[in-house]
Amino acid sequence: MDQIYALKGNIFYTPACGQLAIYPESYLVCENGRCAGIFGQLPERYKNIPVEDHSGKLILPGLIDLHLHASQYAYRGLGMDMELLQWLESNAFPEESKFADLEYAEEAYRLFTQQLTKSATTRACIFATLHRPATLKLMELLEEAGLHCYVGKVNMDRNSPDILRETTEESLEETRLWLEESARFVNNKPMLTPRFTPSCTDALMAGLGRLQKEFQVPMQSHLSENIPEIHWVSELCPNTRFYGEAYHQFGLFGGDCPTIMAHCVWSDKEERELMKRQGVYIAHCPQSNMNISSGIAPVKSYLMEGQKVGLGSDVAGGAHLSIFRAMTDAIQCSKLRWRLVDQNIPALTMPEALYLATKGGGSFFGQVGSFEKGYEFDAIVMDDSDLPTTRKCSLPERLERVIYLSDGKPCAKYVAGQRLF
Ligand code: GUN
Ligand code: FE
Repeated sequence: MDQIYALKGNIFYTPACGQLAIYPESYLVCENGRCAGIFGQLPERYKNIPVEDHSGKLILPGLIDLHLHASQYAYRGLGMDMELLQWLESNAFPEESKFADLEYAEEAYRLFTQQLTKSATTRACIFATLHRPATLKLMELLEEAGLHCYVGKVNMDRNSPDILRETTEESLEETRLWLEESARFVNNKPMLTPRFTPSCTDALMAGLGRLQKEFQVPMQSHLSENIPEIHWVSELCPNTRFYGEAYHQFGLFGGDCPTIMAHCVWSDKEERELMKRQGVYIAHCPQSNMNISSGIAPVKSYLMEGQKVGLGSDVAGGAHLSIFRAMTDAIQCSKLRWRLVDQNIPALTMPEALYLATKGGGSFFGQVGSFEKGYEFDAIVMDDSDLPTTRKCSLPERLERVIYLSDGKPCAKYVAGQRLF
């Protein structure tokens, strides 16, 4: 591939947590799908390359959604008057069981993929359902759309309704077939997805641990989201001292197994130490944590103690696909935590939230989420002319208004150098 071009506009990114780099009306050069540099004027060697002119607009790294359920998109915004375990029984399980029907699954995943494509998200880690053909269909649709995602066929062999439960053998065999079949996709990769400990027997987890080693795939799940859930896990796994050990004992908790754990609202000291040691990613999903009354995760403390953290929409626990919305929810939640829980831990700042949404989560995908040289060229262009104000705003103010006020839809989007629209 010999592709080279530049975008012109107001360029923003976060080189480190809390830092905001701003290049007014500059050129961002893409060379073979990667960032080649930012320039006030194009240097001689680039002087004849094509320039896509987004002058006056804001250019940001594509946003990263580290945790969402494509199969729950249909009921976003509904059923928010329950806590997790009742919410799963009443909302998630009935909807997900419909994905046994490939025709329904295709319709639902097509709609989801269209909406994700229009959003500011360039990469996501996605839960499908336990159905292999439907999961492959989702991967096919994402691949056609030009998005770069990890997708998981969900595993569930206990504590779920008959129509949404596999036997242990079935679950492992279907997972193996799915891993083999998904090798045909280039940009969308499989990720092991045991739903959470209450849905998976030890035998299933042990089998997934073996598959992880054999196929060298990452894994994603849920951790310490809700207090009754945590009590249930300690009953189900009497040999463990804390929830994270239920995954760690099977080699499914970081280290050689790149891992994302959604929520971590209630992780205690030991669990946090293990996450840090193992390099486990935390997907912070503030809107879901509010909607299903899980609590306020200590996201600022996680940053201060050097954990790996990104943001998740957790649709449909979260009602909104927008990671801009996840940024403002994260900031607002962290203020409530400061006010109500611990005044020694300050709230998140806007540049910290942008870091979480870009480079923080993006690092799970490699060199992703920044415009530093060598990073994959994922960019979104935001037009703030439809957010009228009489005030003359500075560039950081314009960025803040886009984060708080925009509908989350960019006017142009690029993934690994490819323009999607
Ligand atoms: N824990 C297990 N399954 C789920 C799910 O679908 N959503 C959320 N938020 N938590 C879970
Ligand atoms: Fe979730």
